[in-house]
Amino acid sequence: MDRYNGVARALHWAMALLIILALVLGIGHDALPKDWAVIPIHKSIGLTVLALTLVRIIWRLANPAPRLSAAMPNWEKGAAHATHALFYIFMIVLPLSGWIMTSEGTRPLNWFFLFDVPKLPVAKGDMLVDLAGEGHEVMGFIWAALILLHIGAALRHHYLLKDNVMRRML
Ligand code: HEM
Ligand code: HEM
Repeated sequence: MDRYNGVARALHWAMALLIILALVLGIGHDALPKDWAVIPIHKSIGLTVLALTLVRIIWRLANPAPRLSAAMPNWEKGAAHATHALFYIFMIVLPLSGWIMTSEGTRPLNWFFLFDVPKLPVAKGDMLVDLAGEGHEVMGFIWAALILLHIGAALRHHYLLKDNVMRRML
């Protein structure tokens, strides 16, 4: 059976975990205890996602995805490809917008308290900073909804249609 290679699978699952964590911490930060350093950890996870995305895109360009079954209707292939493309865009734009909006503030930016991460050259009041702040929240919620759809689609293939779509990623 055609399936994603080991590196692609490892990146998919490690990043899925990190992204879900980033979303839960981002959406939940107000409700979580103040002394948990929720936002510094959220930022560190997000920056990790950004770095891994660069590796993943290079790997993906060098290793095309395995073909989907010819029996799958075209609308479904189109929907899957559009969702995956959008996910790659979100994997870059979400952490980048977070990094931009954080760069105008005075709070330190570091990676899991291990080393400092440079701030981007932006200033309070820049249009880009406002756009990043608005976009970060809106895109985060859209992504969370699309991820639920993506998981639903994977489970539908595995348990209802019983085809090999899910096994290609396991
Ligand atoms: C996979 C990457 C990321 C995802 C999916 C993500 C998603 C989110 C979401 C959904 C929220 C809640 C929105 C709100 O209530 O305002 C949030 C908040 C936040 N994110 Fe991210 N984020 C990511 C990466 C980053 C990065 C890399 C940084 C900074 C370096 C960052 C900084 C922040 C900050 C400071 C907040 C709190 C905003 C507030 O004051 O409400 N995020 N994030
Ligand atoms: C934050 C969570 C997740 C993100 C961001 C994500 C992202 C992606 C992306 C970008 C692809 C396309 C890979 C490529 O062709 O390069 C993909 C494929 C896939 N994902 Fe996820 N994923 C997530 C979680 C999950 C979960 C929880 C499941 C299973 C329950 C899952 C099942 C699959 C499957 C089966 C494929 C292969 C689809 C195909 O062959 O066309 N994903 N995912």
